[in-house]
Amino acid sequence: MAEGESGRLLVLGGSWFLGRAAVTEALARGWSVTTFRRGRSGADIPGVELIRGDRTDTGDLARLASAGPWDLVIDTSGYVPREQGEVARALKPVAERFVFVSSVSVYARWPLEPLTEASEVLECPPDAGPDFGYDGDPGPSVYGFTKAGCEQAVLEVFGADRTVILRPGVMLGPYEYVDRLPWWLRRMSRGGRVLAPGSPDKEIQPVDVRDVATFALAAPSGVFNVTGTSVSTGDFLGRCREVAGPSAELVWVTDDRWLIDQGVRQWTELPLWRTHAGAWSVDSSAAIAAGLRTLGYGRTIADTWAWMQAGGVGVGDDGRGVERRLGPAKEAAILGTWAARELDHCG
Ligand SMILES: NC(=O)c1ccc[n+]([C@@H]2O[C@H](COP(=O)([O-])OP(=O)(O)OC[C@H]3O[C@@H](n4cnc5c(N)ncnc54)[C@H](OP(=O)(O)O)[C@@H]3O)[C@@H](O)[C@H]2O)c1
Repeated sequence: MAEGESGRLLVLGGSWFLGRAAVTEALARGWSVTTFRRGRSGADIPGVELIRGDRTDTGDLARLASAGPWDLVIDTSGYVPREQGEVARALKPVAERFVFVSSVSVYARWPLEPLTEASEVLECPPDAGPDFGYDGDPGPSVYGFTKAGCEQAVLEVFGADRTVILRPGVMLGPYEYVDRLPWWLRRMSRGGRVLAPGSPDKEIQPVDVRDVATFALAAPSGVFNVTGTSVSTGDFLGRCREVAGPSAELVWVTDDRWLIDQGVRQWTELPLWRTHAGAWSVDSSAAIAAGLRTLGYGRTIADTWAWMQAGGVGVGDDGRGVERRLGPAKEAAILGTWAARELDHCG
């Protein structure tokens, strides 16, 4: 099968955000799709062959392999290197190519510096357990170390010729469970004075989950950063306001340092606000040259809002997506202090 054509696809996961998008995009492109999961998160998509099992169970993996072969495997749910090695070894005889979904968190200097695929990666052995590494502030993280170990585990088994490593930055879109864009949209729809953090000119580069999914289906072997086209925070939050809460008023608190000193935690309390120089400076030109296309932030925002209006809830049953966000009382207090400070500066 030539790259970019449809065939038999196995998605490990497939019911949840990126995995779900991969299944949806693949079915639309004529792939015959199998999904493998335990049956706990999300819902199955009609039209796929379902195999229930646990990726940490070697017996389940052997049963899965007996249902092959597949032209392509997309693995969105690998986090533990030694388990990743088991998955890869079980599937090697029955899978032509393996796409492993990693993260920009594998870079030793994320989010401090601009990054390319040649930037230094955290070191983690391919047989490491779930707790390898350590959490720093602002990085690195156990998550980044272990994703790096998972990359090694897949490469060791499938080899560079049959492996695609995708390193997405922040992904947004329908079915998002981290509650980043859904939080902003809910905040706009509540109306009133909305704390907009940092400079409106600051560029961010979230990628639509469907763009990552489409790229995963056709990407050539190799390692690719996958981020979206840069957009200013002003344009992005402005569109959120237009779509979800036109009566809301964006109040730009342009002094990052001041906002941090008020005790507002970037990234978690106010999603997408991150001041470090490398957070939104990830080079995805290799992926673009290899076929990555972007729907654009307008579609991401509109479609996520439409999904929410239809009853979509981003927070997972397993508790993911419940990072503490900025509450109304703290927001109002900070905006009051900011307004007084601005008056002082004028006077
Ligand atoms: N969110 C972001 O902005 C971002 C940024 C960079 C990278 N990433 C990466 O992108 C990926 C996101 O993927 P995602 O949201 O689609 O998937 P995910 O949340 O990692 O995986 C969930 C899927 O895997 C299945 N699953 C979980 N544990 C399993 C087990 N033990 N055995 C079998 N199946 C299991 C779940 O179904 P069951 O529970 O039914 O088994 C579900 O279908 C992750 O790898 C993440 O690290 C995310």
